[in-house]
Amino acid sequence: MRRLAVIALLFLAAAGAPAQTRDIAISAPPELVESGLMDYILPRFSLKTGIRVALAPNAGMRIAADPPGSPVFRRDGTTYYLRAGTDDKPARFRDWLRGEIGRRTVETFVPEDGGRFVAIAPARPEKPAPSFAGDPERGLALAREHCGRCHVVNQANRMRGIGSTPSFGMLRTLPDWANRFASFHARNPHGAFTRIAGVTPPFPIDRPPPITPLDLTLDDLDDILAYVATVPPADLGAPIQYQ
Ligand code: HEC
Repeated sequence: MRRLAVIALLFLAAAGAPAQTRDIAISAPPELVESGLMDYILPRFSLKTGIRVALAPNAGMRIAADPPGSPVFRRDGTTYYLRAGTDDKPARFRDWLRGEIGRRTVETFVPEDGGRFVAIAPARPEKPAPSFAGDPERGLALAREHCGRCHVVNQANRMRGIGSTPSFGMLRTLPDWANRFASFHARNPHGAFTRIAGVTPPFPIDRPPPITPLDLTLDDLDDILAYVATVPPADLGAPIQYQ
């Protein structure tokens, strides 16, 4: 008997949950609701995530025909924006809707009236330009002192560099110059004589540095990078053939 009652309770709990027990709510303009799109996408989202969404007039999360919000789809010249906020579940709805599956769901919906909806893919985030937080002036001074022994670091020391050593202007033409400078201490020939506090291992006892060691801190290196970022790439007149 008791077992039956428990089973019956389970059935009751599973049967159509009333709107108040939905996990989150969303509002949408009348033409969207009437198109049937919301009834089409919400259950599919719930099926995927287990998060139930109720359609409710004054919900905090909303789709609107004007910004702000994330553009999610358009139809007949109107773009619709989702304002989901930052709460976890609404944010998951936004991610789903803007993701591949959500977009495909929107586009497979065939309204009874009017054109179909076209999903809008989120813009790819722009690759942030490398930012060099260091102090370029200090970087120039450090570069002249430490790197200028071998490299032409700017016009002022152009006669002092070692002929076979690439100038900073020449290195600056390489697309990955920033990587190369940030890791110069690990690149030949610098490893044999460069020490960066807390980064480079001690020189091997049997192989002392062949020249006066070059001592820098990571902050110094940041400053040098900030300076190199200001160095105009050398005009070599021909495609680079360096390494
Ligand atoms: C003792 C001479 C010497 C000093 C000092 C020196 N370099 Fe170099 N550097 C070289 C030579 C030689 C090369 C070319 C190596 C090659 O072509 O294999 C080079 C190459 C480089 C490269 C390109 C490395 C690569 O693998 O692409 C960078 C970046 C560089 N140096 C940065 C610096 C910086 C920054 C300093 C100062 C903090 C410095 N160097 C100090 C001799 C020196």
